[in-house]
Amino acid sequence: MAGKPDTLLFETLMEDLSLHVLDIAENATRAGARNVLIEIAAADARLTVAVKDDGKGMDARTSQRASDPFYTTKEGKRVGLGLAMLAQSARETGGGVRIDSQYGVGTEVAAVFRPEHPDMRPLGDLMATMKALVAAFPAVRFVLDYTKEGEHYHFDSAKTP
Ligand SMILES: Nc1ncnc2c1ncn2[C@@H]1O[C@H](COP(=O)(O)OP(=O)(O)O)[C@@H](O)[C@H]1O
Ligand SMILES: [Mg+2]
Repeated sequence: MAGKPDTLLFETLMEDLSLHVLDIAENATRAGARNVLIEIAAADARLTVAVKDDGKGMDARTSQRASDPFYTTKEGKRVGLGLAMLAQSARETGGGVRIDSQYGVGTEVAAVFRPEHPDMRPLGDLMATMKALVAAFPAVRFVLDYTKEGEHYHFDSAKTP
């Protein structure tokens, strides 16, 4: 666990990608989303993680500042690290994050990772993330589409007993 204090902080808070997914999906629920679609695809030396929601979207100011670690609209908080840490994890591998948001329509956060990079984090327990989301936000529909080397996994909270 050697490293600069800032990298130590990131490593402690976010060990794997499934925790990033949990955080980004939680943002969507806070924006009032009824549907959250999580797409994870591994192909061509890239891993893409996209979270799409039909929440309230971001106004121009929020869009601009969303991945700034000192920007948050959460009450009582002074830092908003979720998007900043996702962007950091992606950049560590030579990838990055794109945020597309339309005010009143919804938001898509897409992160690209380079899995062959030595700083690539493990995917972690995606199903634990889905279970945690469903338990915490029972009124929201969460869909996961995971594709790796031609294999496909689909989860839909609306179709789970
Ligand atoms: N899916 C989303 N829909 C609308 N606004 C969002 C979404 N994700 C993030 N935001 C905005 O960006 C801010 C920063 O998000 P984040 O970095 O995860 O920190 P935090 O959730 O702690 O505020 C949020 O407070 C919110 O204003
Ligand atoms: Mg957040």
